[in-house]
Amino acid sequence: MSRIIAAACTAAALLLSSNAFAQEGDVAAGEAVFKKCSACHNVDSAKHKVGPSLQGVIGRQPGVAEGFKYSKAMVDFGAGKVWDDAQLTAYLANPRGVVKGTRMAFAGLKEPKEITDVIAYLKTFTPAP
Ligand code: HEC
Repeated sequence: MSRIIAAACTAAALLLSSNAFAQEGDVAAGEAVFKKCSACHNVDSAKHKVGPSLQGVIGRQPGVAEGFKYSKAMVDFGAGKVWDDAQLTAYLANPRGVVKGTRMAFAGLKEPKEITDVIAYLKTFTPAP
């Protein structure tokens, strides 16, 4: 009996992960997009540059990375929020429109695909909960 349950769970997990994969961006393409961010952000280390490290940023509250001095705009924006796909998609398309007064001097990504791809890339640096 327990083997049947285990097999059913494995099948369900495979189904879920393949669905999730279909909706997500292309990690390799996202790595290329991240070149536009890497002047200001690390993602493979917790060290901050001009911008905060983006390691583990997915699921984190905006404006809370330890040791980084954010603008008041980012801290205020972050209250009660987390960086999920929806928040990041909006922010990366138009940083200064979404977080008025942010210090992130970046015009935004024009192509929706660049945004999904870079988010997929950022997720690879987010430890599983
Ligand atoms: C010119 C430098 C610069 C570039 C280029 C840049 N950023 Fe930023 N970014 C910043 C700064 C500075 C902040 C902190 C903003 C604040 O405090 O208002 C920030 C904040 C962020 C945050 C919020 C982090 C947190 O801990 O809440 C995310 C997410 C982010 N940037 C993603 C990106 C991505 C993805 C790219 C590339 C598509 C990018 N940034 C390009 C400088 C930059």
